[in-house]
Amino acid sequence: MSEVTIDRSSTLDTLFEPAQIAGLSVRNRFVMAPMTRCESPDGRPTTEVATYYGRRAQGGVGLIITEGTSVGHPAASNDSNIPRFEGDALPGWKQVVDSVHAGGARIVPQLWHAGLLRKWHAHGVKHGYGARQDVSPSGWLNSDEKICDPMSIDDIEAVVTAFGAAAHDAHELGFDGIELQGAHGYLIDQFLWAGTNRRDDRYGGTLGRRSQFAADIVAECRRMTTPDFPIIFRFSQWKQQDYTAQLATTPEELEQVLSPLCDAGVDIFHPSQRRYWQPEFDGSDRTLAGWTRKVTGKPAIIVGSVGLALDLRQAGFAAGAAAEVASLERIPAMFDRGEFDLVAVGRLMVGNPEWCNAVRAGHLADIKPYSSEMLARLT
Ligand SMILES: Cc1cc2nc3c(=O)[nH]c(=O)nc-3n(C[C@H](O)[C@H](O)[C@H](O)COP(=O)(O)O)c2cc1C
Repeated sequence: MSEVTIDRSSTLDTLFEPAQIAGLSVRNRFVMAPMTRCESPDGRPTTEVATYYGRRAQGGVGLIITEGTSVGHPAASNDSNIPRFEGDALPGWKQVVDSVHAGGARIVPQLWHAGLLRKWHAHGVKHGYGARQDVSPSGWLNSDEKICDPMSIDDIEAVVTAFGAAAHDAHELGFDGIELQGAHGYLIDQFLWAGTNRRDDRYGGTLGRRSQFAADIVAECRRMTTPDFPIIFRFSQWKQQDYTAQLATTPEELEQVLSPLCDAGVDIFHPSQRRYWQPEFDGSDRTLAGWTRKVTGKPAIIVGSVGLALDLRQAGFAAGAAAEVASLERIPAMFDRGEFDLVAVGRLMVGNPEWCNAVRAGHLADIKPYSSEMLARLT
C-alpha cells in the first residue's frame, strides 16, 4: 500500500489537538494503555473501578483502553478478580463507560482470552495444565512444551462466538469501539506465533494462515456490531513465554501477518513495543508502529516507556525496579516522520491520573516516577 506523505513540523501541543482516527474522534492523541488491576471481585467492575477510569478521563487523556477483560468462555481468565465482559459484569461496565464519558474521554474495552497462559499466571508454576477446558491452537505453551490437545474446530468456533458476543455488548453499552488483545502470548497470539501454533489446517502452516483465527474473530466482531464501530488490534513481537520471539522478521512478513486482519475489518493497529522509539528491522530507523502504518495503510498507536526511563521488563511487571520520568522530546519528530497516530501511556497513568493535563500545562515536575507499589490499590 502507498505511504501517506506527511509534511509537518509538530510540537507536543500538536498532539493535544482533536483528531479523527479511523472513525474514532478523540480530543487529543494520548491513550491510556490497557493495564490489568485485578480489582473486580467475581469479575464484576465495582464503583471504584468506574471512579478510577473516570479520574483518568478527567485528567485529560483522549482515549482509555481498559484492562484486559475476559470474553464469555470458560477458559478465558486466570483470576476471578479480573473483570469479565459478559452477563452480570456488564452493569459494572456501563458505570465505567458513563464515568469516562462524563470526563470527556473515549473508551474501548480490551477483549481478552488467556489461552494456555492462564494457569501459568495464576500459579506461577506448571500446575493443573491439561484440564479439558484449557484451549490452545496446538497444545503448546511455548516452543518446548506441549500441554494439552489442540483446539478442535468446534472449540475455535466457540471462542470466536464469545468474542463476537462481547463486541456486541460493548456496542450496546455505548463503548466507542473495542480492542482485541492479540499480543503478549495470550490465546490470539498463540495462534499468530509459530512457537505455539503447529497446526496444518486453515489456522496454521504459513504466516497468513496463522492469522486466520484472529481474522475470524475480527470478522465476527464486525458482524456483531456496525461497519463504523472501531476495531483496534493489539499485537506484539515479544511473548511473556519468550521475550526474543518474533512474529515477523522483515516488513514483508509483517504484511503477511497483518493483511488478513485488515481484510477482516481492523481499523487501528496497536503494536506493543517496550521502547516506543526502537527500530524494528535491520537497515531502517522505522519502529514497529511505523512499519505497521506503512504495510497496512492503517493508523497505529505507539507504546512502551513513553515518559519513562526503564521499560516494562526492566522495571518488572508487577514488582521490581521503579522507573524515573524521562523526556518526551523524541515524540513530535516521530509524529512528523509518520511513525504513529496515537500515543499510549501505561505505567505513568497508574500513579498520575492527571498525566495528560500536567504534560499539556508543561508541569513535568509534578509527574511522579513509577513504582510497582502504586499497583497496591486503585487510586
Ligand atoms: C500492571 C500492568 C498491567 C498490564 N496489563 C495489560 C493488559 O491487561 N493488557 C495488555 O495488553 N497489556 C497490559 N500491560 C502492558 C501495558 O499496556 C503497556 O504496553 C506496557 O506497560 C508498556 O507501556 P509503559 O512503558 O508506558 O508502561 C500491563 C502493564 C502493566 C504495568
